[in-house]
This record gives sequence, structure tokens and C-alpha cells, in this order.
Amino acid sequence: MKKELLKVKGLKQYFPIKGGFLGRTVNHVKAVDDISFHVNEGETVSIVGESGCGKSTTGRAILRLDEPTSGEIIFDGKDLLALNKREMRKKRKDLQIIFQDPYASINPRQTVVQVLVEAMEIQNIVPKSERRERAIELLETVGLKPYQADRYPHEFSGGQRQRIGIARALSLNPKLIICDEAVSALDVSIQAQVLNLLKQLQRDFQLTYLFISHDLGVVRHISDRIIVMYLGRIVEIADKKSLFDNPQHPYTKALLSAIPIPNPEKKKERMILKGDVPSPIDPPSGCRFHTRCPFATDKCKEEVPELRSASYMTQDHQVACHYFEDIHAGKITAN
Ligand SMILES: Nc1ncnc2c1ncn2[C@@H]1O[C@H](COP(=O)(O)OP(=O)(O)O)[C@@H](O)[C@H]1O
Ligand SMILES: [Mg+2]
Repeated sequence: MKKELLKVKGLKQYFPIKGGFLGRTVNHVKAVDDISFHVNEGETVSIVGESGCGKSTTGRAILRLDEPTSGEIIFDGKDLLALNKREMRKKRKDLQIIFQDPYASINPRQTVVQVLVEAMEIQNIVPKSERRERAIELLETVGLKPYQADRYPHEFSGGQRQRIGIARALSLNPKLIICDEAVSALDVSIQAQVLNLLKQLQRDFQLTYLFISHDLGVVRHISDRIIVMYLGRIVEIADKKSLFDNPQHPYTKALLSAIPIPNPEKKKERMILKGDVPSPIDPPSGCRFHTRCPFATDKCKEEVPELRSASYMTQDHQVACHYFEDIHAGKITAN
């Protein structure tokens, strides 16, 4: 039986918009609007979707970098939202995050070894006398050389800096690492190297990843399961194979259309997305995708589709679309 490491239930993150001369809350940005999912120990679950769909907000809410509006975040059997500040600070070493640009979160005046030692200091997990040694060991673990230990961040390339970011996350022996667009800024070949490193580290240290990316192509190799988000909601969730071989939601199909096909023999439905993601301040009624969906009907404007499955799909595969079976069967076509 696989152990659930993280369970997110009914998570909502509404950011207030202040207005008027009294500075009252006049509206909300519904960045994340009632999402639920889980991540098993040792698994890599990815969240994908266009920019502005609420992916980073989800990651930040799990770490309580923003206080969620409502919902539950059960991590390792404990409800994180019920912890007080002190308890949460202690817990935080188990949940690390790696950002797109580690440079932005690394002090440029510290050498890499100082960056790593400081992380250990804050959490007080390694005896003082062993910290430098442990830091150098970590650098080697992520593919850097001991002689680079006393260099400053600006002396490293983007890919190497991302390795430093990974080493810093690892320095605390976390259980879960959230990678938020961790390789998005890197060249494709460097991207592959960093993804391989993450895979390797997962095997060596039994890590669990929540991997956030706007690019389905990037998450392809690393994911066990994939969550597709659109405008604050989950529209499809499936194991990687089902999602790529048997995508059901028109939005997922559109995202897949946008990535290069590794096997050109395989025919695929082309679907091009029109326009941009609408504003989460006043999201479309019913199915939020209806304004861009070629299959949308009046029902889609009125009723919110729930996540559900069909007999021809794998058990873990769920889709939030009123018409996915009919589309699958070719009973309705794009309008
Ligand atoms: N602190 C905040 N205050 C107000 N709006 C926010 C805040 N953080 C994010 N948003 C908005 O929430 C939506 C989702 O943002 P985000 O989670 O960053 O999307 P993604 O990571 O998928 O690109 C966007 O419309 C963004 O502008
Ligand atoms: Mg983001």
C-alpha cells in the first residue's frame, strides 16, 4: 500500500482586492478555487497549465507562504493549517521549494558553502563542526566540484545555480520538494541534465516531488501523475501514460498540441488555443474553459463540471468536462 505523503482537500486561495478610498475589499482574485489531490511517498506529481492558472499559488499555499482561504493540507498525517507559527517553522524543513531562478533567493555575498551552511544553521540539524563537510558533500551530490565550494553564485552558470538551489533544498533532508518552474529558464540540454539529476536524487533519497511547470513537454519524463489546472481548478488528472496517450479534456488536448511530437508517425488531434486565460477576478461561469472551448454548449456556461471517470479510462484518470465521453466517441465535433 502506497503511503499518502500529501493530501490537499478543497483548497481555495482568494486574494482580496482593495479599492475605494476606504481601502475596503472590493473583489477577490480566485487564484485557486477548490482543488483536491494527493501525492504518494516517492512519487512525482506534476501540475501543468498556462501561466496564471494558479500553479504557483497552490505550491505557496502548501508551504503556507500565503495563508489559504480555506481547505485542508494534510502532510505526513498532520494538518499543516492547524499548526502555529513555531510548529510550522519546524515542519518547513520537510517541505522545500526550488524556484525558477535560484539566484533571486540566494544571497550574492555568500559563497555556495556559506549558503548551504546557513540553511543547516537555521534548522540546526547538523552539528556545527560537520556543516562545512556536509555542504561539500552536498555539492558533489548535485554534480558540482569541491573546489567550487568557496565561489560566489555569480561565478556559476544558470544550470549550476539550479544545482546549488537543489543542494540547498537537500541540505535539510526534506520529504517533499516542490519544484516551481525549476528548469523553465534553462536551455533544453541543461534542462535535461537537471531533470536527470532530480530523478537520480529521488531514487537515492526517496524524495517526493510536486513539480510545477507551464510546459507539458518538460514534465513528461519526470512525472508519475499529472494534474492539469485551468484558471484555479483541476480539469484533468491522470497517470502520465493515460494523460499523453488518452487525453480527455479539450484543454489538455490543446496543451498537448503545443508540444513537439516525439513520434511523428502517431497521428494526433490538433487543437489550437484561442486567446488568453481569462481573469481569475471574474472567472467565466459554469465550466471556466467554455469561453475558449470549441465544444462548449449552453450547459457549459451554466453548470460547473465535476471531476469524474469513464469505463474506458484508467482508474486514476479523472476529467472535469460535461461532454468528454461524447467527444471521445466522436458524437460531437468542434463548433
Ligand atoms: N499575492 C497575490 N495577490 C493577488 N493576486 C495574485 C497573487 N498571487 C497570484 N495572484 C494571481 O493569481 C493568479 C494565479 O497566479 P499563479 O499561481 O502565479 O499562476 P501560475 O503559477 O499558474 O502562473 C494570477 O492571476 C495571479 O495574478
Ligand atoms: Mg507560476
